[in-house]
Amino acid sequence: MSLIETITFSNLDNGSANLFAFENHKNIPFEIKRVYCIMDAGSNSRGFHAHKMLKQVAVCLKGSCRFVLDDGSIKEDNISLNSPAKGLLLHEMVWHEMHDFSKECVLLVLASEKYDESDYIRSYDEFLKVAQHA
Ligand code: TYD
Repeated sequence: MSLIETITFSNLDNGSANLFAFENHKNIPFEIKRVYCIMDAGSNSRGFHAHKMLKQVAVCLKGSCRFVLDDGSIKEDNISLNSPAKGLLLHEMVWHEMHDFSKECVLLVLASEKYDESDYIRSYDEFLKVAQHA
C-alpha cells in the first residue's frame, strides 16, 4: 500500500499560456474552504504536523519541493512535486513534511476547512499515539 495519491490537472489553455482550474468536488475531492500558498521558503523545511480532520491538496505551481508522508506505519519520504499538473492529496491523520524548496517554488494548498489550530497535531509522539489507536 502507498500513501501517495495524486490528482492530474489538465492544462486548459489552448494557446501559449498554462491555465489550470481547481473545482470543488470536480477535480478536488472536497469543498475548498481555504487556499494558502508558501513561497520564498529558503532552506527551511516546513510542515512537521498532521491534521485530525483537515484534507488538503498541494500543488507546486512553480519550482519544486519534496514531501514526506507518514501515517504511523508507512513512510514515503521522496515525493517530488514539480508541476502545476500534479496535486498531492494530504489526508487527515497523515504526518507531512515539506523539504528541499527550490528558490522559485510556489506551493499552493487547497484546504477543506478554515484555519483551526486545534486541528493540528504538532508532536510526532502524540501523532503516533493517536494514529496507533485509530
Ligand atoms: P503552519 O501550518 O504551521 O505552516 P507549515 O505547515 O508551512 O510549516 O503555519 C505557519 C503559521 O501560519 C502558524 O502560525 C499558523 C499560521 N497559519 C494561519 O494563520 N492560517 C493558515 O491558513 C495557515 C496554513 C497557517
